[in-house]
This record gives sequence, structure tokens and C-alpha cells, in this order.
Amino acid sequence: MVLKRPFHCPTVVAQGQDFDEALAGLLDGKSWVLVTSAGWLMRGAVGKIQNRCGPPRALLANVCSNPDVPTVVGLADELPDVDTVVALGGGSVIDAAKGAVALKALSNNLRPFMTHLRDGEPLPDSFAPIPIIAVPTTSGTGSEVTCWGTIWGEDRIKHSVSHTSLYPSNAVLDPALCVSMPGNLTLATGLDALSHAMESVWNRRHTEVTDALAEKAIRTLRRHLLAAMREPNDIVLRSRVQIASLLSGLTMGTTQTAAAHSISYPFTAHFDVPHGLACSFTLPEIARYNMKDDPSRLLPIAEGLECSVDEIPEHLEKWFGELGVGPLLAAYVTPDVADTLEGNLITRSRAANNIRSVDEEAARRIARLALNYFCPASELDAAVNN
Ligand SMILES: [Fe+2]
Repeated sequence: MVLKRPFHCPTVVAQGQDFDEALAGLLDGKSWVLVTSAGWLMRGAVGKIQNRCGPPRALLANVCSNPDVPTVVGLADELPDVDTVVALGGGSVIDAAKGAVALKALSNNLRPFMTHLRDGEPLPDSFAPIPIIAVPTTSGTGSEVTCWGTIWGEDRIKHSVSHTSLYPSNAVLDPALCVSMPGNLTLATGLDALSHAMESVWNRRHTEVTDALAEKAIRTLRRHLLAAMREPNDIVLRSRVQIASLLSGLTMGTTQTAAAHSISYPFTAHFDVPHGLACSFTLPEIARYNMKDDPSRLLPIAEGLECSVDEIPEHLEKWFGELGVGPLLAAYVTPDVADTLEGNLITRSRAANNIRSVDEEAARRIARLALNYFCPASELDAAVNN
């Protein structure tokens, strides 16, 4: 098979071991720093790592959701020279760690860092950040196997730090770290993984390999995400969703995302819609939109969902209904907000990947139709009254 776009991911993925045991093997003899969030201090995972691996050179446990530039600057300032950084947490922690090692590799010089974030100026050839060992505690972002991280700028503008040296050197997958995820976080992150897989299929950069990975990820999520929400302590279900997220991350690493992610960003920036929810509520409408030109391109999605291509939109809407997407979305937005986001719904680098051209007007129509479906008046009344 000759791929028009080579599949590449240098991250060594470890699975099937307890996270502390896996880390002990990887950290043997190395100096290291632990980056995490306050929650993991409380839940005991940090203590477990320290018991097994000894103390880190620094413990940076103040990463919050959706890390911004000041967060990354603070982390980089506190980051000592070490052999490796362990990032324990969800996508926000792993992305913040990527930002911090990137800024440190630029000698904490904010100017080239901000030029990279704002203008996409490439990082220098000599760029050599401290390697990251990613230990994901959610199942959705795929950040453990991609070379970019989301950093939020002023006025809630989304930026990406990106370089092939930012692929984590290792990813340690232990589903035991996912059992504490509340239902809404399990849903939002699982939907993020679904969106990554579907967006890699209706993507101009797709390949045979990414289609195969996406199909498997979609099928696994369709079969197990709802069950994982209902049985949060079931380690087998957590493991299935974790692997689906990994496969979705691997597909996205080759293709990047497309229209659904482009439309999502203002919903997160202006209305705090969780990323995974924001990038998935439009999936049924985008499926309708994208199947107009060449329905056969959506075949890996149909096979993953175990339906026909024609049935994809309704199949997704029914499944999202079972998952509770509507009431959750209605807690953040009303259908009319789509009309207030004029000029914000197209992020060129994402929308340009979509197999069918999508402009601002088409994006607004897609968002409005999706909101009309998931947040009808009765849903809004219920959200207000609860
Ligand atoms: Fe995403």
C-alpha cells in the first residue's frame, strides 16, 4: 500500500501495567518533574507515583482546564532542567506541559513563542524540548499521541503549539486512572474522540490507515461509551473507551480535524461549552452536509456505526439522545447563539480539511440546525427549571 500521506507517530505506548509501575520503569535513573492538576494530588495518584518512583525534582500541580498563556509561562518559569516531564492528567495538563517545555526550549523567551502561537511561525530547527511522558486520565483528546497542544490566548483565542519534537516520548495508558471521571466528563471526552475519528474520515488528508483506525474507534465508542457512563467503575469498559481515544488520536495526528472542530471553537470560547461537546453536536448535520458530494467517502463511519451511509445522521441523533447530549448542551447555549457568532465559525486550518468546502454561512446554518435539533424549547425549559 502506498500512502499519499505517511502515517507517523514516534510515541511509545505502554498499556497493561499499573501506571506507577510503568513510570518506575521509564524513569529509572532519570531526573524528572511531575506536571498535574490539584485533583490528582487529592485522589492519591501523585502519592502513588512518588512511593514507587521517588520524589520528582519539582511537583507542578496547579494546571487548570483550558490552559492559557500565563499558565504556560508560570509552568515554564518553574521547570528545572531535567531529563523528562511526566504529565499526569487530561488534555489540558498534557497540552500545558507541551507549552511549558516548548517555552523553556526557547530559553523562556516569550517573543518567538507568541509569534509561533499567533502567526504560526515555525519553531527553530534547533528546537529540542524536554521529552514528555503523557499519562492521560481522560479518554478523548488524543494529546498523548499528537505533536500539538491547545493554548488559549487573550480574548479567548485558541492557539496551537506544534512541532514534531512535541510528540510525547511515551504514553502510559492505565484505565484505572479514568474511573473517577464523572459522567459528563466521560461523555464530553468520549465525544471528542468520536469527533476526531469522524473528522479524520471526512478529511482531505485521510489515508487508508487513518480510515481503518477511525472505523475501529467509532465502532468501539458506539458499543461501549454509553455503558462506560452507566458503569463508571467497570475497568474493561474504561479500557475500551481509552483505546478508542488512542486510535482517534492517532488518526487525528495524520489528518488533523475538520469542520466540526472549526465550528466548535467560538462555542467553547464564548459560552464555555466543553470542547468534546462543542465539537460533536454538529456531527449529524455535518454528515448530512458532507454526504451530498460523495457519500462513499463516509463509508468507514457507517461501518463503524454499523448502519448505512444514508442512516448516519439519524443514527447519530438517536445515539446522542441516549447519551444525553441535548440536555447537557442546553445548559450552555440556546439555538439563537449561532447567529451571534458571525465571523467566528471558520478556523481556516481546520475547515479547509473538510472534504466539502464550508464557508461561514454554511457553518452557521449547520450550527443553527444542530442547535434546533438538540436544544428545542422543551429542552431549554427543562434546563431552566432544573
Ligand atoms: Fe478535539
